[in-house]
Amino acid sequence: MVPRSTVILGTGSYTPERILTNEELSRMVDTSDEWIVTRSGIRERRIAAPEEETSDMAVHAAKRALEDSGLKAADIDLLVVATFTPDMRIPAVACVIQQKLGIPTAAACFDLNAACSGFIYALDVAASMVATGRYRKALVVAVEKLSSVVDWKDRSTCVLFGDAAGAAVVGTSSEAGRGLLGTRLGAVGNTELLFIPGGGSTSPASPESVANGDHFIKMKGKEVFKVAVRIMGDAAREILEQHGLTADQIALVIPHQANLRIIEALSQQLRLPADRVFVNVQHYGNTSGASVPLALDEARKAGRIRSGDLTLLVAFGAGLTYGSALIRW
Ligand code: ACO
Repeated sequence: MVPRSTVILGTGSYTPERILTNEELSRMVDTSDEWIVTRSGIRERRIAAPEEETSDMAVHAAKRALEDSGLKAADIDLLVVATFTPDMRIPAVACVIQQKLGIPTAAACFDLNAACSGFIYALDVAASMVATGRYRKALVVAVEKLSSVVDWKDRSTCVLFGDAAGAAVVGTSSEAGRGLLGTRLGAVGNTELLFIPGGGSTSPASPESVANGDHFIKMKGKEVFKVAVRIMGDAAREILEQHGLTADQIALVIPHQANLRIIEALSQQLRLPADRVFVNVQHYGNTSGASVPLALDEARKAGRIRSGDLTLLVAFGAGLTYGSALIRW
């Protein structure tokens, strides 16, 4: 049997035009550029236009990934979308994206929610389905319109998040030792540190839930920070160990861009110099699941990833989910 490696055939990303700076935010809530930069490393973030839907951002990123891979929407038979800010509760935003892109009706299309680890979860799911041979070309999209669930009066969260989409096309290669070498997924099972209490079956939307702001993100930032540093480090070390690798063999680490201090703590744990860890959090803030594919796409297009390089993707998110993936290009 021909060995079947799953490979990323192309990547794409999209960020909305509108830039919201720290200076502007400091006129909206009691904060300052100095506080935001010192505590998070974020200088600005992108905010979708009110009429710009999650699916619109996803379509832009997906079109760029398809173009990069040399494929067309008609070639896709599997679409996996990671998000917790879909256009609406049902249908899955994957079906909206399918319609907007013209992906064939024979394709399997669904959403998954692993918060900020969403892209790595979706990549693993899509690659596993492609590896069975029952699907040929998968489109993986991670997209978030966080501006729609952020409380713009809560300075402890509104300064951190931004909107974006990232995408990758997954296929197979007969060349062994390339592509997605492995993944490590997990979750801590915590529902109290980061959540949106309203709008689900526990607290369906009502005038009271809206008045309480229950449909906004709630986060215990300090506690999330501590767990994030630990589980990002564990997720990175465990996958390296599983593959008999050491961190110095990784050409570029692409971590979830939540906070520069979390990324720096990860670099220290892995004993990697700053130039081996990709950072763009200063421009976009935390774009949740979109952050890893956005960083991956920027790194590829900036020539930071060459053929044969090993890259390590690593993320954590609400849940608290975590994930890591090793890719040989
Ligand atoms: N501007 C000014 N002051 C602020 C702001 C702000 N925007 N936000 C909070 N403060 C104040 C607090 O009220 C507090 O004041 P106090 O000491 O008088 O009580 C003080 O600043 C310190 O606040 P801390 O929360 O202790 O600040 P910390 O250094 O922990 O930084 C931060 C906060 C940036 C939120 C950090 O904890 C963090 O990044 N945590 C991780 C969050 C994260 O990564 N979340 C993403 C999860 S991924 C997903 O699935 C969406």
